[in-house]
Amino acid sequence: MVCTYIINTPFVDLKPLLSLLFVTRHKRIRGFKTSMGVYPWIMATKSEIKQKLIDDLPTLEGKKILIFGDVGVDEYVKGQVKRISPEAPVPVVEVESIQKVLGLSANVAANIIALGGSPILVSVVGEDADGEVIKALLQEKGIASDSLVSDPGRPTTSKLRVMSGQHHIVRVDYETKSEIDGNLLQKIKSQLEKWIPQCDGVIVQDYAKGIVSQASCQLVMELAKKHNKKVIVDPYRSTPLEYYQGAYLMTPNRDEAFDLAKQIPNHQVWGDVDKIGAQLMEKIQSEKMVITLGSEGMKIFNGGAPLHLPTFARGVFDVTGAGDTVISAFALAIAAEWSLEMSGYLANLAAGVVVAQVGAVACSAPDLKQYIQNHF
Ligand SMILES: Nc1ncnc2c1ncn2[C@@H]1O[C@H](COP(=O)(O)OP(=O)(O)OP(=O)(O)O)[C@@H](O)[C@H]1O
Ligand SMILES: [Mg+2]
Repeated sequence: MVCTYIINTPFVDLKPLLSLLFVTRHKRIRGFKTSMGVYPWIMATKSEIKQKLIDDLPTLEGKKILIFGDVGVDEYVKGQVKRISPEAPVPVVEVESIQKVLGLSANVAANIIALGGSPILVSVVGEDADGEVIKALLQEKGIASDSLVSDPGRPTTSKLRVMSGQHHIVRVDYETKSEIDGNLLQKIKSQLEKWIPQCDGVIVQDYAKGIVSQASCQLVMELAKKHNKKVIVDPYRSTPLEYYQGAYLMTPNRDEAFDLAKQIPNHQVWGDVDKIGAQLMEKIQSEKMVITLGSEGMKIFNGGAPLHLPTFARGVFDVTGAGDTVISAFALAIAAEWSLEMSGYLANLAAGVVVAQVGAVACSAPDLKQYIQNHF
């Protein structure tokens, strides 16, 4: 049976897909290779997609992904409040536990290794205690820290959250947002020149803490182009789009996409994700784009009508870090030469795994395989 999964399932918007029906018979767009040949999307059955995802998962293993961007530590101080301070009208937290975890781009590195890839983290840490914490936490996960640059002039970014039960009482940030200077750029350049030729793909993870400057980002683009590597960018909402010119793919969430589009002259489109995606692609001269839509999944722009993949999440407990999982899965799948659409299925499924867990946890390759087997 040519089960027209796409037509019979609520997983995919019918409108763009039906428009594919009118594509000429010979023009096999959105195809993906299977052992049986190249299938256009309109022919793909759900079980074919599922089988292909499972069969191709091992191809992600060992893919080297260079991650460039800001790193940080997330610290959780948890305890109980039993009284108000005599010094000021504030609660006193009696500390019961302290936990430090990898944050910002370091969490993307954690996601890459959990999915079976091999991350190379190029970033800057301060010469301080939290800089050492990041290195130790990376080491615990088997991630090398020799591609990190240390700078005595910058504190390591750290966000300390004080919690009492489920109540978030206060957050304390240690950080600088000042842009890297020429000296630091040179140190970063040596690392990029060393590692980009060896990697299978590049992620730029911008949190606007100063590491992703126009000069550093464009250096990444140049080196990646020279060595024929694809760059995937998780953008920051107010970074000038020029920084990202040359990216293969950008993965903003919906709000970020709308904010970024405001930089485009004559931008007059409100509420229409498809038009925003088209405008952003034109602006950064990319032919591909993914806009993540939270509980509504994601839109994939790859020529023709955008493809909507609704979320595959079964339960939602904590959406923290889902974006990091999405970009990690895309980077690995693209490095393994998967089609953008199959990469989207993978990323959406991996995000489904992490939103069902508490905290910014990474999705492991075995968990993902099991999830695909049981829930897709
Ligand atoms: N509430 C939700 N229910 C189901 N799935 C979700 C939900 N929120 C996020 N997801 C999944 O996670 C993916 C990424 O989510 P989102 O669009 O919120 O990214 P993001 O805002 O960049 O995340 P982050 O805050 O981690 O950077 C979505 O494409 C979807 O698969
Ligand atoms: Mg995000």
